[in-house]
Amino acid sequence: MDLKLQDKVAVVTGARTGIGFSICEELAMNGVHLVMVSRQEADLKQAARTLADKYGVSTLPVAGDVTDIALPARVVREAEKVFHGIDLLVNNAGRAHAGTLLTTSEEDWQSMTETKLSAMRRFCKAVIPGMQQRNWGRIVNISSIGGIYPNPQLTVSHALSAAINNLTRSLALSVAPEGILVNAIGVGAVATDNWAQNMLPNVRKRRPELADKTDEEVMALLGKEKTPVGRFGLPEDIAAIAAFLLSDRNQFVTGQTIEASGGADRFM
Ligand SMILES: NC(=O)c1ccc[n+]([C@@H]2O[C@H](COP(=O)([O-])OP(=O)(O)OC[C@H]3O[C@@H](n4cnc5c(N)ncnc54)[C@H](OP(=O)(O)O)[C@@H]3O)[C@@H](O)[C@H]2O)c1
Repeated sequence: MDLKLQDKVAVVTGARTGIGFSICEELAMNGVHLVMVSRQEADLKQAARTLADKYGVSTLPVAGDVTDIALPARVVREAEKVFHGIDLLVNNAGRAHAGTLLTTSEEDWQSMTETKLSAMRRFCKAVIPGMQQRNWGRIVNISSIGGIYPNPQLTVSHALSAAINNLTRSLALSVAPEGILVNAIGVGAVATDNWAQNMLPNVRKRRPELADKTDEEVMALLGKEKTPVGRFGLPEDIAAIAAFLLSDRNQFVTGQTIEASGGADRFM
């Protein structure tokens, strides 16, 4: 299917690795020029060079922390110096946080809220005026399956995911008449650094019988045990869905949270 994305311009946050990088790659394959945002500048520049060399698209790395309230305006300014404007936005930066309501600190609650929800709101506010001028835009917010099926072991992540799903729908309803479609993806367990660093230690603590298994073996086992399709997700699984939602072939889906979890509603 031709997604009709040639020469569109996308801003992707959390673009250096994992799901964000994979979405960038899928978009680059479809001729999309990329504004890639993450904190670690040297590695981000390398990731941007890799995609430009491989797919012949223009890539602009912008190093920054999405919790910096000045970042969205800087990203728009830098993008507009190089490109015609921003057509697509993917709010992806973030991580999981394992913990119940009682074990989540004030500091973790604040920093997770800033990173996931407040940053998403600010990036949407920064790019939508340009989309309104062109009467066309697509936004994808990366959420988690826990926004629909909360797991008490991931209270803050899942409460924020529910808020993201709600924000996505309300924003979608307000901008739909202006040609802007906004959707979320409720991501299940996807094998990334984030999962290995923030989730596996918790699984290992709760399941001492897995102590002699490698990270890969534990993920393979959890994929079989907990997921109807029998495996963990891959970043590419999410990227394929994002690319369709962001494309001009999507004319009629908006305000939705697409469940992308291999049929599972929890993983630990
Ligand atoms: N993997 C899963 O199973 C899963 C499940 C549900 C939801 N999700 C969500 O999917 C998104 C991507 O996660 P992932 O699994 O692909 O993780 P990942 O591989 O750790 O990627 C996260 C990316 O976000 C960037 N990032 C993190 N904090 C940032 C900040 N404050 N400002 C700017 N960039 C930041 C990181 O780069 P720098 O270090 O360079 O900043 C990195 O490139 C997250 O929002 C996560 O909550 C993932």
